Amino acid sequence: MKNILITGGAGFIGSHLVRLMVNKYPDYRIINLDLLTYAGNLANLKDVENKPNYVFVKEDVCNLEGVQAIFDEYKIDGVIHLAAESHVDRSIKDPFSFARTNVIGTLSLLQAAKTAWAGGGDYTDKLFYHVSTDEVYGSLELGGGFFTEQTKYAPHSPYSASKASSDHFVRAFHDTYGLPVKISNCSNNYGSYQFPEKLIPLFINNIIHNKPLPVYGKGENIRDWLFVEDHAQAIDLIFHKGKVGDTYNIGGFNEWRNIDLIKVLIKVTDRLLGRKEGASDKLITYVTDRAGHDMRYAIDSTKLHEELGWSPSLQFEEGIEKTVKWYLENQEWLDFVTSGAYMEYYEEHYGNR
Ligand code: NAD
Ligand code: DAU
Repeated sequence: MKNILITGGAGFIGSHLVRLMVNKYPDYRIINLDLLTYAGNLANLKDVENKPNYVFVKEDVCNLEGVQAIFDEYKIDGVIHLAAESHVDRSIKDPFSFARTNVIGTLSLLQAAKTAWAGGGDYTDKLFYHVSTDEVYGSLELGGGFFTEQTKYAPHSPYSASKASSDHFVRAFHDTYGLPVKISNCSNNYGSYQFPEKLIPLFINNIIHNKPLPVYGKGENIRDWLFVEDHAQAIDLIFHKGKVGDTYNIGGFNEWRNIDLIKVLIKVTDRLLGRKEGASDKLITYVTDRAGHDMRYAIDSTKLHEELGWSPSLQFEEGIEKTVKWYLENQEWLDFVTSGAYMEYYEEHYGNR
């Protein structure tokens, strides 16, 4: 049996990855380490929580002793590290918690892996996989090229600066101590179970409740959107087949100007709610721009496609339809999160957050 530690498994992408790994690899034991911050929600994993090859452990990635104990208790062979503070707007208000979780948290996991694995003689069949973001590359001009694996790091927000720093620590542990590592940098994800502070679930929820849709600046910034289950598939593929020491960009060549995406979102949501076409256009509200707002992200994932044969499974139109339908059919989940009830529930069951 392989013991795989997935950190941040109660979050958006982490929960999709945990589900995929638990179902696809019954002979692996998947240990989900998560602190259950505001972004963590075990309701995202209801369908796998009773599987025999799944374990949840509440822990802080920054607590080196606690993380070390998990490596020892579960004889961890591989790590897929997703736990992070992930929302750019929060990083602008509170950069320190991003440095703590994203930098110190990654460092303590690396240190725990090195101690546990080097103590066993060598690193054979061990792997530390770090999940990162395209935001480390900075911002592109409109119509000006793509981020490749060779693009120089140029982060702008406290969030992307903390993720860039964590990527550097992962490479430093590879180059200095020989730790077997892999890194992937992915574009914007969308899909089910995303915390409704991020653009797509926030706007779907606001359309449902006829609340304003706060568009930053002129809505001209561009993001490159990938269906979250395609990201999880790519992580699985890189984890098993990627080259140790390498970096892989993940993205579906799917750029959208925010305002165009928002109009599609309104159209699909109104139709599925049985409202008249354009009924929710009036909710669009232009607000003060995000400080340091990156203009454009666009990922070149040719390496992943050519070396490992990965391609996204869904066209965007299909993915967005599926996503809106999911939030409409799971308004209980949305209400559980937006009301804050989930925080109280987990405090009661798992202690202070
Ligand atoms: P998320 O905010 O939905 O989930 C983060 C998870 O980490 C939560 O379950 C939270 O409880 C947990 N966590 C936070 N601090 C912790 C700590 N100190 N110890 C243990 N657990 C802790 O994030 P997400 O959107 O699923 O992103 C997951 C990873 O993927 C992040 O590393 C992020 O940088 C990266 N990423 C995200 C996107 C995206 O579009 N969302 C794109 C590319 C890369
Ligand atoms: O590119 C990958 C990154 O994508 C991930 O690393 C981050 O974890 C993830 O949060 C995401 O970052 P963004 O800042 O691009 O995502 P967000 O959903 O916050 O915003 C998407 C775009 O929409 C961005 O240009 C800002 C804009 N926006 C966002 C919100 C929340 C608005 O106009 N209004 C809003 O209310």
